Amino acid sequence: MILGLETSCDETAAAVITVDGDILSNVVASQSELHARFGGVVPEVASRRHLELVSPVVREALDQAGASTGEIEYVGVTRGPGLIGALLVGLAAAKGLAWGAGLPLVPVDHLHGHVASLYLLPASVDPPFLCLIASGGHTLLAGVRERGRFEVLGQTRDDAAGEALDKGARLLGLGFPGGPAIELLAEDGDRESFDLPRGMDRDAGLDFSFSGVKTALLYTTRELGGRELERRRADLAASYQAAVVGQLTDRLERALADGEWEAVALGGGVAANGPLRARAAEICRERGLRLKLVPAELCTDNAAMIASAARFVEPAPYPEYLAWDAAA
Ligand code: KG4
Ligand code: ZN
Repeated sequence: MILGLETSCDETAAAVITVDGDILSNVVASQSELHARFGGVVPEVASRRHLELVSPVVREALDQAGASTGEIEYVGVTRGPGLIGALLVGLAAAKGLAWGAGLPLVPVDHLHGHVASLYLLPASVDPPFLCLIASGGHTLLAGVRERGRFEVLGQTRDDAAGEALDKGARLLGLGFPGGPAIELLAEDGDRESFDLPRGMDRDAGLDFSFSGVKTALLYTTRELGGRELERRRADLAASYQAAVVGQLTDRLERALADGEWEAVALGGGVAANGPLRARAAEICRERGLRLKLVPAELCTDNAAMIASAARFVEPAPYPEYLAWDAAA
């Protein structure tokens, strides 16, 4: 069995999986409510909450799996990227745990974790596939030819897709997290009603940029002002969502243009978005490609994906790992 720990943002998570990728427990304590009143994650608040939660969450994950530390082969922990203070809490906890139980420790890259969520049972996917991970912290288009590795094809140059939705929701006076709030309101709106920039600049290649559409939304809300904004809010939400999702699916189409990929996988919190899923399904159907959607509970940050990724990284023995720092 493998124990995984994840504390890179605002989820305190621990999980136990088997080396084959069976999930025995997957405990996630979300701090989302704690940060909601600030309209986003406050790093120092997150670190302190991780400190309170990490031990009980690990204990719960071991209990649910019916495992003792003696049955764990190694511990996998997110080393980065993420909020530095938040990462440090998980890393220190994992070091202590591994040291105490005489286990090797495996440093896991958070993005490798998201990709490795695709290798968990019962719906494991085999490479090669094209992978889009879009969440509050990252927007990554990756080519995966073998487990444990991927090639970065495109990344965001500024905000992450989910971050753009969260900030947009704030401008529209909606709650946090913004993605679901915008999706809900957009159902009552017309996505053609506002012409917001979609970042379709060909020079960007497969990279993403959401600062343009965010600024355009800001100016549009100012121009409309007060009652008119209130009246057009759903239309604006629909247009904004269409611009963000449109850019994601545009890059997906660009990446598929060379015909190399036979399967596409979507993960990360934004992959819960209905219009994104629908458009990705359409793109795959048109090209006769398989589409794999990461299950919802594995889309958002969790530790099962970290334990999964740990299987493809060389474990470090004690005392080598004691010197590790978090990599923000
Ligand atoms: O993967 P995740 O839980 O955490 C990070 O690693 O960031 O992703 C959270 C992000 C938030 O920005 C949230 O607004 C977005 O995913 N999100 C959505 C939806 N559900 C969550 N975005 C669009 N549509 C949704 N239904
Ligand atoms: Zn993440």
